[in-house]
Amino acid sequence: MTSPQTDAWPVRALDPADTASLAGWAQVGRTGFMAAAPAPQEADARLRELAERVAGQRLSGVLDGGRWVAAYRSFDTELTLPGSGPVPVDAISSVAVLPTHRRRGLLRRMIGEDLRRAREQGHALAALIAAEAPIYGRFGFGPATRAATLVVDAGACRFREDAPRAQGSLELVEAAGAWPELAAVHDASRRARAGGLQREELWWRERTRPGGERAWGPRTHVVVHRDAAGVADGYAAYEVEERWEGRVSRCAARVLDLHASSPGVHRALWEFVLSVDWVRTVHAAERPVDEVLPLLLHDPRAVQHGPVDDLLWLRVLDVPGALAARRYLGRGTLVLRVLDPGGPAAGSVRLHVDPADDGDDGDDGGDRGGWACAEVTASAGEPDVVLGAAELGALLLGDASAVALAAAGRVHGAPAAVRHLQQLLAVPQAPWCPTWF
Ligand SMILES: CC(C)(COP(=O)(O)OP(=O)(O)OC[C@H]1O[C@@H](n2cnc3c(N)ncnc32)[C@H](O)[C@@H]1OP(=O)(O)O)[C@@H](O)C(=O)NCCC(=O)NCCS
Repeated sequence: MTSPQTDAWPVRALDPADTASLAGWAQVGRTGFMAAAPAPQEADARLRELAERVAGQRLSGVLDGGRWVAAYRSFDTELTLPGSGPVPVDAISSVAVLPTHRRRGLLRRMIGEDLRRAREQGHALAALIAAEAPIYGRFGFGPATRAATLVVDAGACRFREDAPRAQGSLELVEAAGAWPELAAVHDASRRARAGGLQREELWWRERTRPGGERAWGPRTHVVVHRDAAGVADGYAAYEVEERWEGRVSRCAARVLDLHASSPGVHRALWEFVLSVDWVRTVHAAERPVDEVLPLLLHDPRAVQHGPVDDLLWLRVLDVPGALAARRYLGRGTLVLRVLDPGGPAAGSVRLHVDPADDGDDGDDGGDRGGWACAEVTASAGEPDVVLGAAELGALLLGDASAVALAAAGRVHGAPAAVRHLQQLLAVPQAPWCPTWF
């Protein structure tokens, strides 16, 4: 079973409709991710859910003696880049190798084949969520978004008089029936901010299907905010936990998902969740690192910041394609040399954002809010900045600091050039990806 001849273990594609094979393939993931096997009476339902989830996606893995020992999945989705609309990305997930077969190059082989295929098929970017931070830098991935955990003392929250307000109303809804409204709100939200990922219809069905493996729990409530015309323009899904010490409430709420189309709606949703009777503490994970809530309060320390962790990792497969796909608030010209030994990102490009471009659409008088397109061309010139593919992935959405990476010895160039790169890539809102995949 554990022959060291890894050449005898080619990466094989798996047909997602082949449920017999799928069951063995899924077991690799459960072992890798330390997940419990489903109870026997639930096994068929879980397999059906998985088959539905991965239908049309790319599944692969490695067989040893007829048993799946490595698993890998990728699929096409959309990622919002700064200032521009969503672009296609190769999303990678369900990566696992059995402990009996680890560190023999199986991950390297699976990801190598997938990234080659993605590049050949025209993808400029690949994305994943890293289980452990040291794994994926070697494959050219860098952490491109971070997410904050908040712990809020509900009783200490008093909103400032100047905090924005929205016209409209709030309604508690049944998620199973209301998810299309939530999906529409989320879709607008993820397009409006860099880092946003598409959520397929199935994502919503899985969250809102009672008893499903990925469903929000039975103590979850969903509140929808509607504008004056009754159209949903924000929602919060939150879970409550009842806990008392004697007759004193220690009840907590956990915000699972909160999206708003405007600052006023954002305030209304937070104010609602923070004012639910009995709730003393509100936890929220995967919030943007520049979450506005503390700034709305008389006492911003009512919001304690828990861990801030990386979430979405990006791998640039096509440097000119990726740099030209986003927009820029900075202006000027830099030659970048990307180091990517044996990889598709290696080479030098000239990144030019016209200083005369004021971000106005001209023809139709539209205002692009100062965002300008870049011309990105291959360059034989002396580079201003030299950086690795993983560092470019970390910088692309504007989250990482070129200056900090230079201080760490991971981005090289004259201080003025590094500062210029940071100004070119700067974004007005921290990129945010609240969608696990
Ligand atoms: C992470 C995992 C998929 C790696 O698979 P693998 O087949 O052992 O990896 P490979 O042998 O191809 O390793 C390739 C390189 O990555 C390194 N590497 C792999 N896993 C690593 C880890 N967890 N931490 C640090 N380095 C790691 C290897 O040392 C090797 O380095 P080298 O090229 O410098 O020699 C596997 O250990 C696993 O299933 N872990 C548990 C589940 C998990 O974390 N999955 C990833 C989800 S994002």
